[in-house]
Amino acid sequence: MILKDSIIKKCLFPAAGYGTRFLPATKAIPKEMLPILTKPLLQYGVEEAIEAGIDTMAIVTGRGKRAIEDHFDRSYELEHQIYGTSKELLMSEIRSIVNNYTFSYTRQVEMKGLGHAILTGQALIGDEPFAVILADDLCDNDNKSVLTQMIEIHKKYPDCCIVAVEEVPKEDTNKYGVIAGENIEENLIKVNNMVEKPEPKDAPSNLAIIGRYILMPEIFEIIKTTKPGRGGEIQITDALLTLAKQGKVLAYKFDGKRFDCGSIDGFVEATNWFYAKL
Ligand code: G1P
Repeated sequence: MILKDSIIKKCLFPAAGYGTRFLPATKAIPKEMLPILTKPLLQYGVEEAIEAGIDTMAIVTGRGKRAIEDHFDRSYELEHQIYGTSKELLMSEIRSIVNNYTFSYTRQVEMKGLGHAILTGQALIGDEPFAVILADDLCDNDNKSVLTQMIEIHKKYPDCCIVAVEEVPKEDTNKYGVIAGENIEENLIKVNNMVEKPEPKDAPSNLAIIGRYILMPEIFEIIKTTKPGRGGEIQITDALLTLAKQGKVLAYKFDGKRFDCGSIDGFVEATNWFYAKL
């Protein structure tokens, strides 16, 4: 079901990373195009955004990512070939996405971190609140998608940025942005601290940020003044900390299943999960 009255209309998809964990598969194919069953990871993300009422997909790409643009476009020759055959059905979802939604692109020329990738998308987003989906965090929920849940919270707290979080084993905190704060509602936390990939002993909690964000446009100016952090990269977690200190960041413990498809284990798990649902 598509959320009808969403006030968030654009979703940013950072998709410039190299995907080195999946080499050699990602040598010539963008990691966002790796399929879970027959659908590329990025298409799952786009479908989640559509369900949340979003109509414009702003994709930050990089060198070697042209397959993404080709995927979200017509393919006249192929469509002509399968015209009138049963294969046409396999194309109906993507065809409807291409016909009904807007895709805009910009390239991140240098890989300087997720914060920098989001800043690169500023020209596509403009001056309005927006969503961010990291396609390698694949989320599934039969009722309401994670982004739809977050947009509903945004309606109640329209001045706040929102990050999706889930509990992870303490030994895994160094793979994620980790938050701490105080509960203000069931499953909703007002964030007062956030750290990018802390070692378990330094982690303020075991609540890890997963790849779903609702951001206010003021974040762009903040990213511009955010110094490189973990890994020498400009981190969105560090930029958000500035807003958290002003009480303007919420963390939402979402309802649903999430797979880390940036790892081989998570990718296989997601494949088995969606296969079992066929
Ligand atoms: C990024 C963010 C991190 C977040 C994670 C979610 O890290 O920097 O805060 O927890 O996405 O997947 P990456 O996985 O790109 O290293």
